[in-house]
Amino acid sequence: MLKLAIFGSGSGTNCQAIIDAIEAGTLDARIQCILSDVEDAYILERARKHGIPAIWFDCAPFKSKLDGDAEAKVLEILADHDVNFIALAGFMRIVKDGLLKAYEGRMINIHPSLLPSFPGLNGGKQAFDYGVKYTGCTVHFVDAGVDTGAIINQKMIAIDDDDTLDSMMEKLHAQEHIAYPEALRWIAENRIRRNGRRITIE
Ligand code: GAR
Repeated sequence: MLKLAIFGSGSGTNCQAIIDAIEAGTLDARIQCILSDVEDAYILERARKHGIPAIWFDCAPFKSKLDGDAEAKVLEILADHDVNFIALAGFMRIVKDGLLKAYEGRMINIHPSLLPSFPGLNGGKQAFDYGVKYTGCTVHFVDAGVDTGAIINQKMIAIDDDDTLDSMMEKLHAQEHIAYPEALRWIAENRIRRNGRRITIE
């Protein structure tokens, strides 16, 4: 059984899509806790509304990564909550070695572009500014690179001539909310391979 921790830094609409899929019975998983590096992030409010432990952790002194004491604390929280799989959903920090090693092959992320195009910050805006006619979202395993891990699921959208960045992002988010629960369902059903090996969750 997937015993998830979801990490986010913002509004948590992807987290909500995962909660909804579990509550609707289309995803066989449990959310053990929802964590954020931002104390007043709305994702934590979503957790509380659904009776899921909502945990803020302080990443100081680091501005853009999860490392050092904060990483150690997070590992402790994950062990305390019996977490066997991590879903990053709008978590805006780079994950470092300690967490990567502890959850190797058991940590995934959603990114707002069709990887390997437009990795890094603001993938949606990068694609829009470039002028591509199609873009989308990617669910992928997390490895030591920036958005370089093996791809699990992608959804595509067309960018129409009259689209603005906002209207394009609205279409993109709607696809993310399908792609993320679907990817987790495939993992829960042991249908996903990484480096040639099937990912099985006890
Ligand atoms: C999503 O669009 C996700 O793809 C993106 O942040 C947004 C979070 O929205 N993630 C990244 O850019 C990661 N590099 P949400 O908080 O409403 O789920």
